[in-house]
Amino acid sequence: MKFLELAQQRFSARSYTAEPISDQDLHYLIEAARTAPSAVNFQPWRFLIIRSAEQREKLHACYSREWFKQAPLYIVVCADKATAWVRKSDCKSHADIDAAIAAEHICLAATDLGLGSCWVCNFDPDLFRQHFPLASDTYPVVILPIGHINESPTQRTSRKPTDEIVTVL
Ligand SMILES: Cc1cc2nc3c(=O)[nH]c(=O)nc-3n(C[C@H](O)[C@H](O)[C@H](O)COP(=O)(O)O)c2cc1C
Repeated sequence: MKFLELAQQRFSARSYTAEPISDQDLHYLIEAARTAPSAVNFQPWRFLIIRSAEQREKLHACYSREWFKQAPLYIVVCADKATAWVRKSDCKSHADIDAAIAAEHICLAATDLGLGSCWVCNFDPDLFRQHFPLASDTYPVVILPIGHINESPTQRTSRKPTDEIVTVL
């Protein structure tokens, strides 16, 4: 598949079948994340795989939506503040940026495998910390439910026109 076709095919999937994700597919997704670029190549990302019934239930409490609960597997992309690059001139940490690039690599790789995914940031981060202890400098950036798509959208979300978002100087 050409890259633009792949990018156009990805959408936020919010309906999944119960079919599990194979270890082979999971490996592919993590390899895709590992290839992502990061500031100074510091790779300040951590990936939490949530698969067991017990752990899934704890995660569902952090983002209580019926569609979300359907996913057989979740990848929580976390960032480690302690190892991320910080720009000296304005002290801007690039932890979120690096984690976000890795997360989108996972979503595009899932599309490549014919799997669905969705960015979820509207979860309860405090509850997440209670259920899933992380190192003090590490925090969850995005939860990615991954699953076999149950229903494709009849209409894709729209995008702003090019002339509204691009400035050529
Ligand atoms: C940073 C970020 C956070 C998001 N958080 C959520 C979320 O918490 N819940 C949700 O259902 N979708 C979430 N989304 C998905 C967006 O709603 C979706 O990407 C957008 O509407 C465009 O639709 P598409 O992904 O189908 O192209 C998030 C997307 C991004 C990039």
